[in-house]
Amino acid sequence: QELQLNLEQIEKGGYDHFMLKEIHEQPDAISDTFRGRLLSNEAMVKLAGVEDNMKKFLAADRIIIVACGTSWHAGLVAEYIFEDLARIPVEVEYASEFRYRNPVITEKDIVIAISQSGETADTLAAIKLAKSKGAFVFGVCNVVGSSIARETDAGAYTHAGPEIGVASTKAFTTQITVLTLIALRLARAKGTISSSEFRHHLIELETIPKKVEEALKSDGYIQTVADIYKDATNFLYLGRGFNFPVALEGALKLKEISYIHAEGYPAAEMKHGPIALIDEQMPVVVIATKKGHYEKVVSNIQEIKSRKGKIIGIVTKGDTNVKELADHVIEVPETLECLSPLLTTIPLQLLSYHIAVMLNRNVDQPRNLAKSVTVE
Ligand code: AGP
Repeated sequence: QELQLNLEQIEKGGYDHFMLKEIHEQPDAISDTFRGRLLSNEAMVKLAGVEDNMKKFLAADRIIIVACGTSWHAGLVAEYIFEDLARIPVEVEYASEFRYRNPVITEKDIVIAISQSGETADTLAAIKLAKSKGAFVFGVCNVVGSSIARETDAGAYTHAGPEIGVASTKAFTTQITVLTLIALRLARAKGTISSSEFRHHLIELETIPKKVEEALKSDGYIQTVADIYKDATNFLYLGRGFNFPVALEGALKLKEISYIHAEGYPAAEMKHGPIALIDEQMPVVVIATKKGHYEKVVSNIQEIKSRKGKIIGIVTKGDTNVKELADHVIEVPETLECLSPLLTTIPLQLLSYHIAVMLNRNVDQPRNLAKSVTVE
């Protein structure tokens, strides 16, 4: 028994929980994921699975992304990135809905399946269905040799290393890293991005691990914020554009490990319903980084403030506008808008982690949840 405990302590590498360790591993996990693939000196992106199938990628009418949970959120971020950079239409589907919907799939479709474990039953079934209709299926998995990695026609692994905490953290940011590399590679091949813009994106992506490290330094302040709001019974998370899926992911993280009800919404949708929920009891986490519809998000923040909601803003370093309106601001370094999810997601992971710890929850193994969902 004692030996078992010590072993677990060693595996946690000095952290109290696997989740916290995995949150802090993200700078390395992201570098490991682009190592050998992002070649900024040569202005190249090299992914064997994409190079070998370039003809199929370039001939594709659209990309359909299938996934569940956090991996589905990474798919949503990818939708924005692929459409923006590579101008390929993308649809993002819950694997569980896609597989039973009699979807329209043809040989000209590319299906990208995203899965940390590579064992999610619904995602696996969606892949089999897409293959039976003649689509080319590309996998983005973390676990080497997993069922999904074997079932797909080609793929690219995330190199996040083992993720033990049930709440997915480093798998999410490394999935976005791989998907960004694919989008950049296709954008270059299609000529939808100039060579100077391409190079600029590569250089920026290369700086992300350092910037994640910087974002992690807000940990102490995030604990203070967590302590103030840990007894709230509901949370709202808002974001727009590339950061709309990050709002969904922030809400999912809080729900699954703290058991506090949380909803993620595109910020502008607020006035179509959720605004009715806002009063002085409601903490609203708003991703309001510079660029990306910044002014519009600031006006959403004003709407929340006039209804006395408590505002926790995730802002670009040095921001002053949101600071004047919000109850708390958590800064992240500046980057390209399409890469910002890799940074804005960090404070949301830490916020849910600290709230869960303060509520004495079982952070690494929350109730009713399994690390991989191998049944439907
Ligand atoms: C994430 O925090 C969840 N535990 C869950 O939503 C997970 O992302 C989902 O079950 C998909 O798993 P996969 O990536 O292993 O396919």
